[in-house]
Amino acid sequence: SDDHDHHDGDEHELRVSKIRSGTVIDHVRGGQALNVLAILGIDGSEGEEVSVGMNVPSDRLARKDIVKVEGRELSQDEVDVLSLIAPDATINIVRDYEVIEKHRVEPPEIVEGVLSCPNAGCITTSGEPVDSRFEVLEDGVRCDYCGTIVRDEIAALIDT
Ligand code: CTP
Ligand code: ZN
Repeated sequence: SDDHDHHDGDEHELRVSKIRSGTVIDHVRGGQALNVLAILGIDGSEGEEVSVGMNVPSDRLARKDIVKVEGRELSQDEVDVLSLIAPDATINIVRDYEVIEKHRVEPPEIVEGVLSCPNAGCITTSGEPVDSRFEVLEDGVRCDYCGTIVRDEIAALIDT
C-alpha cells in the first residue's frame, strides 16, 4: 500500500490508520479530498468517522489524497460523480480490516440528477420538475438541455 510508502527504502509511519469496515477511496488526485467529501455529503456534523490524507507521496501519482470512511459503502451515483473529479481513484471495500473488493472508478456516459447546471436560464434550474442531465465528455460535462459545458469546476456543480 502506498499511504505507508516505501520511499528511500524505509517504512516509518502509517499516515492514516487502517479502518475496520467501510470504504477507502485511494489515489484521489492531490487537492480533491474535500470535493470527495462534498460528493459523499460528509461534513462531520453527523458524527461520521472519516480520515483524510492530503498530498501524500504516492507511487502512481506524484501526490495523492486518500479518504477513509468507516461504516459506509458508496452508491453507484456517488462513484460516478467521484470519477469526474478523481479519474484515477480506487474504491476499496474493507471488512474486518481486509480489503474484500477493489475497483477503479470509470466515468459514466451520463450523470443524472446529481450535478446542477450553472446556467440560470436552463430549464433544469428554473424550478421546473426536470432532473439535471449531463453528458460526460473527455474533459468535462455538457448539459443535455442547454448545452452548457463545464470543464474545470465540476465539483462546484454538485447538488448537496
Ligand atoms: N486500507 C485501510 N484499512 C484497511 C485496509 C486497507 O485503510 N483495513 C487502505 C490501505 O492503507 C490502502 C488502501 O486501503 O491505502 C488499499 O489497501 P491495499 O489493497 O491493501 O493496498 P495496495 O495493495 O497498496 O493497494 P493499491 O494497489 O490499490 O495501491
Ligand atoms: Zn443546462
